[in-house]
Amino acid sequence: MTSELSLHHPRYVRSNRYDPMWVTQNQMGPNALWLTESLTEVLSLAPGMKVLDLGCGKAMSSIFLAKEFGVHVWAADLWISAADNQERIVEAEVEHLVTAVDAEAHTLAFEHGFFDAIVSVDAYQYFGTADLYLGYLVDFLAEGGRLGAVVPALKTELGDEVPTTLAPFWEWEFCCWHNPAWWTHHWAKTGKVAVDHADLIDDGWRDWLQFNDFIAPHVEGWWIDEVATTHNMLEADRGENIGFTRILATKN
Ligand SMILES: C[S@@+](CC[C@H](N)C(=O)[O-])C[C@H]1O[C@@H](n2cnc3c(N)ncnc32)[C@H](O)[C@@H]1O
Repeated sequence: MTSELSLHHPRYVRSNRYDPMWVTQNQMGPNALWLTESLTEVLSLAPGMKVLDLGCGKAMSSIFLAKEFGVHVWAADLWISAADNQERIVEAEVEHLVTAVDAEAHTLAFEHGFFDAIVSVDAYQYFGTADLYLGYLVDFLAEGGRLGAVVPALKTELGDEVPTTLAPFWEWEFCCWHNPAWWTHHWAKTGKVAVDHADLIDDGWRDWLQFNDFIAPHVEGWWIDEVATTHNMLEADRGENIGFTRILATKN
């Protein structure tokens, strides 16, 4: 279908304004702009706010937040260097709003209470599933600061067996994909935050498939196999198990 080979999305009107090839060239999985825009549906942002984008990858989400909301963003990532991201930030003409930093999520070099919001898009699952991590991270938020994440989800928590439809595609790291109820409990049990919002993004799997199929003709190297496998997995599953959890909390 033509619509599946476009990056136009009726829900994500802000994302529609970005060059699809820029999004394709800087992708690291699902569409970071769509996931970020979904978070901003529930997270209020205002010009001048200080936002940490943790696990920003190639900083598309950071650039998006700066352009769309006028917030100051610290674009922090482990695998992608700050120097690499700085080039993209300058090209996007938001260097007055976005600061690229080399960062490891457990050794952040910021002052406590510095940020009004911390966001993480398709990244928090890599470092945030340990019980004690949230308590470490919220120290970097101001009082009443917000913590928001969008992450891949298994709609039903993994039991002893991998769901049958996913078995041919399963990678052990998918065990960090959790549903909204799991994340809500994981965060709330610390007593450090109040969870304001936790849900599955409607038809998130369709969005992932649409994006995956759009980028497929343009990727190179190991991404060719990656997008083929992702396509087959999402088509086989058709949303039975896979989605995205969106979660937002306020620091107590
Ligand atoms: C799948 S990529 C997503 C990147 C980007 N948010 C996006 O959606 O395009 C996951 C990102 O998490 C980052 N990450 C993983 N573990 C991390 C850690 N311990 N500290 C900081 N970043 C981490 C990686 O560097 C990587 O860029």
